[in-house]
Amino acid sequence: MPAIKACLFDLDGVIVDTARFHYIAWRQLANDLGFDLSEHENEQLKGISRMESLEIILALGGVQISEEEKLSRAAEKNTRYLVLCKQMTPDDTLPGVRAFLEELKTASIGIGLGSASKNARIILERIDMLSYFETIVDGNRVTKGKPDPQVFQMGAEDLGVDADGCVVFEDAVAGVQSAKAAGMFAVGIGEESVLTEADIVVPGFANFSLKDLQEKFI
Ligand code: BG6
Ligand code: MG
Repeated sequence: MPAIKACLFDLDGVIVDTARFHYIAWRQLANDLGFDLSEHENEQLKGISRMESLEIILALGGVQISEEEKLSRAAEKNTRYLVLCKQMTPDDTLPGVRAFLEELKTASIGIGLGSASKNARIILERIDMLSYFETIVDGNRVTKGKPDPQVFQMGAEDLGVDADGCVVFEDAVAGVQSAKAAGMFAVGIGEESVLTEADIVVPGFANFSLKDLQEKFI
């Protein structure tokens, strides 16, 4: 059986359910500009950086604004998002995640974060999960967003492991594509009908153990 050397985790939608807060804050921005943003449209924004998400939303609304206004609208969205995130506590960690990370630690498997978010550290601190991660590759470090493989390649390099020993956990289509482009095993968190390029898809970490992963890992 090939050995798993490291697990790299996306943050939003994998470790914690912040996706709903991103949606509320983006929807408010769209409403301020005179249009609505549906939950279906919001799917396209998962895993995508803040400024790229703004561009997609503006295109959806058919609205054009200056570069200066883009920066101020994005900053305003982030302020709203962080206010919403203040409601979170360690109990908001998604079910089974903490137990799964404990299993990895016990098995001496490397643990890294690979997120597009510039707020990753703040969020991990809020849910008291920062100490699990040996490396954090976030939106402040990457120069190329998902689906580019850079975020997970940097994580593997930080942990000193080859791509073929890495497993990536992702809830976004762009994130699964990023993992596959990096030559890693991709576990989709969510629905099979959406995450079609993942090697396996599970609904979440509840009822999912390291043994289950090792049985599927190829
Ligand atoms: C990703 C989310 O993890 O981070 C996206 O899926 C979000 O929805 C992106 O836009 C950037 O996040 P932030 O916190 O830097 O605005
Ligand atoms: Mg995500």
